[in-house]
Amino acid sequence: MQQTLFQFIRELYQTKDFIPLHAPRFAGQESAYVQHTLDSTFVSSVGAYVDRFEADMASYCKSSKAVAVMNGTAALQAALYAAGVVNHDLVVTQSFTFVATCNAIHWAGADPVFVDVSELSLGLCPKSLAEFLQQECELTDGACIHRQTHRRVRAVVPMHTFGHPVELDELLLLCQQWQLVLIEDAAESLGSLYKGRHTGTFGRFGTLSFNGNKIITTGGGGMVLCANHDDGVALKHLTTTAKVPHSYEFVHDDYGFNYRMPNLNAALGCGQLEQLDSFIADKREIAALYQDFFAGSEFRCVKEPPYARSNYWLNAVICPSTEVKTQLLETAAEQGIMLRPAWRPMHQLAMYQHCIRSNLAVTDYLSEYLVNLPSSVRSLSHDHS
Ligand SMILES: Cc1ncc(COP(=O)(O)O)c(C=O)c1O
Repeated sequence: MQQTLFQFIRELYQTKDFIPLHAPRFAGQESAYVQHTLDSTFVSSVGAYVDRFEADMASYCKSSKAVAVMNGTAALQAALYAAGVVNHDLVVTQSFTFVATCNAIHWAGADPVFVDVSELSLGLCPKSLAEFLQQECELTDGACIHRQTHRRVRAVVPMHTFGHPVELDELLLLCQQWQLVLIEDAAESLGSLYKGRHTGTFGRFGTLSFNGNKIITTGGGGMVLCANHDDGVALKHLTTTAKVPHSYEFVHDDYGFNYRMPNLNAALGCGQLEQLDSFIADKREIAALYQDFFAGSEFRCVKEPPYARSNYWLNAVICPSTEVKTQLLETAAEQGIMLRPAWRPMHQLAMYQHCIRSNLAVTDYLSEYLVNLPSSVRSLSHDHS
């Protein structure tokens, strides 16, 4: 099985060279747009491409407003701050995520609470959240309070794992009932749809990452999608040093962040966004090919939930045993093909092992058995555009 898998991946990417897990692809107007910024000298935190990238992204996702920032972690931190998260608060999230989700919660002054993920989406499980809220929390004067610690639970941050949308209707209902702000960590799911609507547009805020390994990249970058226009205006002000607009005076009216995305990076983003639909089409084709390959085997391919249309950012497979997983990872490394095990879950990291948590059986299972497969968009010969 292993050898035929490696052969299959080599045929998929038509190369004998090293195959990374996820490489970016620049086949559109990226060079021209970046060159414009150099020619104009507007390479830094002000420039037309920043405004254009924000407007294009808001229009693509059908969001009220999009605010470009320097990376996905900064996007999360700014969204948490704007949602009113303060020192000593609790924020419910999943332990099965990249560490940035929790680090942003930490630097917003709060502590994460871990609930389990759903086997359907691999993202935050509404049933697990409901159990935590019903068994451990109470609503007091419109605030959700964790009974044992008397700490306020302020927000819920689900993450659309590998691009697969979480069960948003159920999560939204719980957030409404328990007075919690929903912030979607949509770093991995740009272009994924939940019941026909873009992920990142259901919560009060949704955050994106344009790191080099994401479906589109700006080198480094992020975005906050805002459900309310006024939130967007406030967040733009906050993430750009909270400077009061004036032709020469320097007055700042809040403790602002300098989380601005440089124009140089936004230019790259504009070029990438124009190709996003063709990237998604190719990724969905790659996912279907992996699913055919593994059909009837002892490996289980992760598939999009029935209510969703996933961008299939990273393909994943569940191995039949940890021995098979280790052997697969080792042989792949020897053969120059990059496979990756799931993240070590957050509740097992030193910084987060003291955090409040529910039963995390699915999280533990996935982190032991799951492996990600090479999922880059393929070269020009497979172009859809
Ligand atoms: C789930 C998740 N959240 C947040 C981030 C943070 O994004 P960035 O690396 O742009 O800070 C990433 C990716 O890097 C991610 O995968």
